[in-house]
Amino acid sequence: MAIRPAPESVAKEAAENIHPVRDPNTLSNYNAWKTKHTVADFDIDFKAKRLTGIVHLTLEKLSKGDNKIILDTSHLEIVGVDIEGDEAPWDLATKRTEPYGSPLTISVNSKQLKAASPNLTVRIGVQTTKDCTALQWLTPPQTNNKKHPYMFSQCQAIHARSIFPCQDTPDVKSTYQFNLRSPLPVLASGLPTGAKDFLPGKDGQPGTLLYTFDQKIPMPSYLFALASGDLAQASIGPRSTVWTGPEELQACQWEFEEDTEAYIQAAEKIVYPYPWTTYNVLVLPSSFPYGGMENPQYTYATPTVVSGDRQNVDVIAHELSHSWSGNLVSNASWQHFWLNEGWTTYLERRLQAAIHGGDKHRDFSAIIGWKALSDSIEQFGEDHEFTKLIPNLIGKDPDDAFSSIPYEKGFNFLYYLEKLVGIEKWNKFIPHYFTEYKERSVDSYEFKATLLSFFESDEAASKKLTEVDWDTWFYAPGYPPKPKFDTELADMCYDLADKWEALNEGKGGFEPSKKDIEHFNANQSVVLLEKIQTFSKPLAPKLVERLGQEYGYAKSKNVELVSRYFVIGLKSRTESVYQPTAELLGQVGRMKFVRPLFKELMKCDLARAKKTFEKNKDFYHPICRGMIEKLFEKHAQQA
Ligand code: BES
Ligand code: ZN
Repeated sequence: MAIRPAPESVAKEAAENIHPVRDPNTLSNYNAWKTKHTVADFDIDFKAKRLTGIVHLTLEKLSKGDNKIILDTSHLEIVGVDIEGDEAPWDLATKRTEPYGSPLTISVNSKQLKAASPNLTVRIGVQTTKDCTALQWLTPPQTNNKKHPYMFSQCQAIHARSIFPCQDTPDVKSTYQFNLRSPLPVLASGLPTGAKDFLPGKDGQPGTLLYTFDQKIPMPSYLFALASGDLAQASIGPRSTVWTGPEELQACQWEFEEDTEAYIQAAEKIVYPYPWTTYNVLVLPSSFPYGGMENPQYTYATPTVVSGDRQNVDVIAHELSHSWSGNLVSNASWQHFWLNEGWTTYLERRLQAAIHGGDKHRDFSAIIGWKALSDSIEQFGEDHEFTKLIPNLIGKDPDDAFSSIPYEKGFNFLYYLEKLVGIEKWNKFIPHYFTEYKERSVDSYEFKATLLSFFESDEAASKKLTEVDWDTWFYAPGYPPKPKFDTELADMCYDLADKWEALNEGKGGFEPSKKDIEHFNANQSVVLLEKIQTFSKPLAPKLVERLGQEYGYAKSKNVELVSRYFVIGLKSRTESVYQPTAELLGQVGRMKFVRPLFKELMKCDLARAKKTFEKNKDFYHPICRGMIEKLFEKHAQQA
């Protein structure tokens, strides 16, 4: 029997039998029925901005299988339901259970229940609505070349339920078939199996094609993905292509072609051969709310990674790493999100070290991560539930708990374990763990049990593992112990920041010049800028402007730099950055940049912040729009 100590809150909950399943963020009864195969058959209707179609779910009856199948839905219209071809009674809750949506309950009659041996197929006619949180629809003027409409999905964490009724939990994995009809090229999170004429075009309009995809590796619902628009493709490696608008194609190809295959091979050496056949990247319109999203076959990426200097390919190392940590071995619930993101951050940094310069760079990246961790902990407060490695998310929206904490506390835990047992032994554990849970979902207790049992026969390692204070790592809020990182690359940045601080305090003797950062890579500039953000006295406006000009940050094409530079300017009310900040907020919709810029702009010039939001409201993705609205509410409460 595996060692599975449950946190007190979860144990109590289980005792009261409120949550009979591992995942508290689904309303489905996935302990009674389990989705094995999903067919998503949709028309992509750009005019009405909705998907219309039929979803087939093949469900396995588990021992507890009962006469009701309860599925997650959110803002969906249900047209009809049948079971094995016979119309079936169904009920869609009229009142939402926030933040989880409206459960759809389908009745299974005793004949059907008996016939389910053990599988049964349910077909559901469904339409998305304008309140769908998983899709963004862009009109032609909102796209880069302004010629065609565009649409894309983002399902993580619990938005798949606003596209189709499903067991929207990472604890359930299904194979998929996609049949998608669109007048424009389509991608989905499966291997393409063809594109056939479906309807001829009329009046000079393009005809509709049927695009089909197969995902034979079972995957959780949050990896369901589709996109359609004016897309072109180019090769970036022997098993990789990049997809984007025709005008952006060359720049995207250049950005990724050097590193992609090298990263795949480095990851294969650390874990095991890449099992998904192809690894491709779709570069989205600039309203894409994340840096990257690890959708199988096609990583979705923000166009801000295409900075023309190959300095943001770490996003690719990260999303590629998810092919193992997350996509093959998935967190069983969002409470164990660190198993996805902490492992992925760990692998990402191993890949970087393998390709770009060894452990010094890995530690440098970890130092940047530590700063992100510390920012998140300060933002929530050191005692906050969401600063725990395993937060209690009962009744919560996982999006609200999202922060750098699972990434960086998770990374630090794995880094600590690596150092504890020693790299050679740890390297043997990595493929073991990813083999053990391949195509399955895993929680922190299973991770612990697997680690302990792997080293059981190794006396020295076992003895070291008895030192691990599991409860503190798992359940203590706030900071983990800080490891000794190699600070060589960071020290150069801190030294330069010290000079700026002295200048800011009125001490002379430092004449800034672009030579200062001649040998810096972009991440070193990030460290410099973040250090300046934390000066006890905000950098004086005159110096802000000098920093922007001398080092080229004010006009940088790299949003990682220009956005941090603007934050410095906003913090000291440097008025010359207000307008460029507002402009940038109309050009990028990645929340990592949008959030701090709006937060600071609100404090400087609320009217301008409001105007900027109103102007760009339709440009922002629904998730990002909701986030900004919450920022305004919070600002109003604090004022
Ligand atoms: N899976 C995440 C993105 C995500 C997390 C979307 C939770 C929705 C809910 C992705 O792998 C990620 O971590 N992206 C990072 C990039 C990275 C290099 C750390 C991002 O978007 O900034
Ligand atoms: Zn990630």
